[in-house]
Amino acid sequence: MAGVISARAISKSYGDRKAVDGLDLAVEGGAFFGFLGPNGAGKTTTIRMLTGVLRPDSGTITIDGHDSRDRQHIASVIGVVPESRGFYDWMSGEEYLDFFAALYRIGDRARAVRQLLADVGLADRGGTAIGTYSRGMKQRLGLARALVNSPRVLFLDEPTLGLDPQGQEDVQQLLKRLNEGGVTVFYSSHLLHEVAHLCSVIAVINRGRLAAVGTLAELQRQTDSEDLRDIFMALTND
Ligand SMILES: Nc1ncnc2c1ncn2[C@@H]1O[C@H](COP(=O)(O)OP(=O)(O)O)[C@@H](O)[C@H]1O
Ligand SMILES: [Mg+2]
Repeated sequence: MAGVISARAISKSYGDRKAVDGLDLAVEGGAFFGFLGPNGAGKTTTIRMLTGVLRPDSGTITIDGHDSRDRQHIASVIGVVPESRGFYDWMSGEEYLDFFAALYRIGDRARAVRQLLADVGLADRGGTAIGTYSRGMKQRLGLARALVNSPRVLFLDEPTLGLDPQGQEDVQQLLKRLNEGGVTVFYSSHLLHEVAHLCSVIAVINRGRLAAVGTLAELQRQTDSEDLRDIFMALTND
């Protein structure tokens, strides 16, 4: 069983710069998978390849057993919360979600939108303009948008960046609940403490390469490796 997310020797360069360099990843269904690495390590580039936004220069990716070039299937099983997303500030949260529900041809859109807003704790703000939302509310709305198609695999690229502690806690609780409900979560972060308390498995990426993978305890046992110790030091300096 290849796992629900599988990448073999994927690479991506921007000009001369190798952003991702022969990366292998295997994520089991139902995992809360941490993708940990310092800024510039190649996390966003990897997520963009895994979610079909960028084509790798080489290597193969399968999601839910389908090659990543099978865009239609991939789009039907994944949800993505990208690193940053623009919103139309004049739109209400409800209108925003309704737009995506229409794209995904959801049957009873009004009901689906109501449910999504309730799931992310925005039930009482659905009718107001997104421009009036706090950062945390916008992030939860982004999460609701990623959930429109009831994905089995959810990718999040540093989803708590710039949120206050309450906002971080809200997003993480929501993700825990989704994971308990069976959703596979792929969670990228540059903060060790964040993935340490959330994730069942952690992959450490540095300079586009996989530095280590395992449970937190397994990673801690490997810190006699000088490389990994240096990476860990960098990841806790925030
Ligand atoms: N669009 C781009 N053009 C050129 N270089 C890029 C681009 N996106 C990322 N890079 C470079 O690729 C490397 C990996 O970046 P990225 O995947 O964004 O890392 P991370 O998300 O871990 O911070 C960095 O050196 C970054 O400067
Ligand atoms: Mg990034």
